[in-house]
Amino acid sequence: ASTLGAAAAQSGRYFGTAIAANRLGDSTYSTIAAREFNMITAENEMKPEALQPNRGQFNFSSGDQIYNWATQRGLQVRGHTLAWHAQQPGWMQSLNGSNLRQAMIDHINGVMAHYKGKLAAWDVVNEAFNEDGSRRSSNLQGTGNDWIEVAFRTARAADPSTKLCYNDYNIENWSYGKTQGVYNMIRDFKSRGVPIDCVGLQTHFTGGSSLPGNFQTTLQNFAALGVDVALTEVDVTNSSTSQYAGLTQACINVPRCIGITVWGVRDSDSWRSNESPLLFDGGGNKKAAYNSVLNVL
Ligand code: XIL
Repeated sequence: ASTLGAAAAQSGRYFGTAIAANRLGDSTYSTIAAREFNMITAENEMKPEALQPNRGQFNFSSGDQIYNWATQRGLQVRGHTLAWHAQQPGWMQSLNGSNLRQAMIDHINGVMAHYKGKLAAWDVVNEAFNEDGSRRSSNLQGTGNDWIEVAFRTARAADPSTKLCYNDYNIENWSYGKTQGVYNMIRDFKSRGVPIDCVGLQTHFTGGSSLPGNFQTTLQNFAALGVDVALTEVDVTNSSTSQYAGLTQACINVPRCIGITVWGVRDSDSWRSNESPLLFDGGGNKKAAYNSVLNVL
């Protein structure tokens, strides 16, 4: 196959990218995105601050722009994200307790009703753990330790057709506190019947040539709990070809690793643009890392 999406499809997987609505008018950008990828994540446009700028008033214009652009080209869409400590609208940042808990539930219901039956998956909860595996303190955590499972139960009831994922960074190394914290939560959810279908490993890698310890083992161990795994926001400092090849191989080696998404198209589009972490350079040319990924898929 000659594109990332087609190559990933050979093994039943997808290869995706994050898209920014305000770049879709750039034809170099949109041409690469539509040609190479078959799964799209809105980089910011489906986050709480974007979708519910005022309490009770949803604004789906930018989210729908991404959704329509993707589906008109036959690409699937992952939703990102419903409940997160960051990128909350101002009104939500100042809430706490039962008022915030209700706002979270209302947000999930409002957003999922709008996209009902349309998305491949939702990152229901994003980045809820500290590096040591304890829960990150936030206004959401302050509503009670059960906020995550309430988010997932609400999401399942709102749209039973979409996969529900927990998403986080620095959970790639099996011998790491945060990985263990997330693993224990997923195991607990599965044992108690809390609805969860997938774990997203953001896979923002920095430096070095080897992968964080036992990356493939981490994918296997999550999958063994009965969830799919996906690499959801991949970028790698200086686009290390060995890290890109390695993370791709780790996914390919795990049957329940269903796909890989890179966090942007060209280096110049990246939130880490000073680290040149993506598969296309600022001119839209394929980098060595692109070939290292394509060769493994
Ligand atoms: C980032 C976007 O790329 C930036 O444009 C924005 O300013 C901040 O958020 N983890 C996530 C993503 O889950 O939503 C973040 O995206 C990157 C880290």
